[in-house]
Amino acid sequence: MTETEIVERVQCLVCQRMAGQQAGHDVDHVLRVLKSAREIQAEVGGDRFVVELAALLHDLGDAKFHDGQERSAEFARDILSKHSVDPSTIEHVATIVDTISFRKAADPATLSLEAKIVQDADRLDALGAIGIVRTIEYGAAIGQPFYLSDNPGGKHKTAIDHFDEKLFKLHDLLNTDAARRIAGQREQFMRTFLDQFRHECGETE
Ligand code: ADP
Ligand code: NI
Repeated sequence: MTETEIVERVQCLVCQRMAGQQAGHDVDHVLRVLKSAREIQAEVGGDRFVVELAALLHDLGDAKFHDGQERSAEFARDILSKHSVDPSTIEHVATIVDTISFRKAADPATLSLEAKIVQDADRLDALGAIGIVRTIEYGAAIGQPFYLSDNPGGKHKTAIDHFDEKLFKLHDLLNTDAARRIAGQREQFMRTFLDQFRHECGETE
């Protein structure tokens, strides 16, 4: 099998296995991460095959869908070993999917170029119009209001808090200039959205 054929097969498998998943980790998230990762790789270099496989497999074993256990690395090893991928590539991909999540906050100095690319692509998907929709979907899935007009001292958590707690921090955490450029434009759009939202809620004149 050629590398292109392996990527196509893995993509098919991931689409089947993630069908029906929601809460921001549907298969469209994975396909968008793959697209962004390819664009970044074309600009900064690195091993395209590793980048593609890691992008496709990075959320396959998300803890939210596996009783709180993160199983993406295990699933990646399992799938790739059945597709005649060489052991060092398998280990590299497994390491990437195991280390890139926001929660793990891995030291960027320890990440390979390919890991940095996939991490940036994943973070970009939390920004812009898509990021806004995912934030709304996530909040709705856990029964959290998006916004509360009567919330003294921010006593109740809302999805809108998530913008400051995480989303507006992402730009500075990105690894590549290619991603930072895209992020700048997406962040600007989110700020415009929040300004308009607050204006319509009567918070601003
Ligand atoms: P990832 O693992 O891809 O970094 P998460 O699983 O943490 O992302 O979140 C999936 C999506 O839901 C992302 O777009 C993220 O910004 C959003 N999200 C995560 N936590 C919250 C929250 N507490 N409130 C609203 N949105 C959230
Ligand atoms: Ni992801």
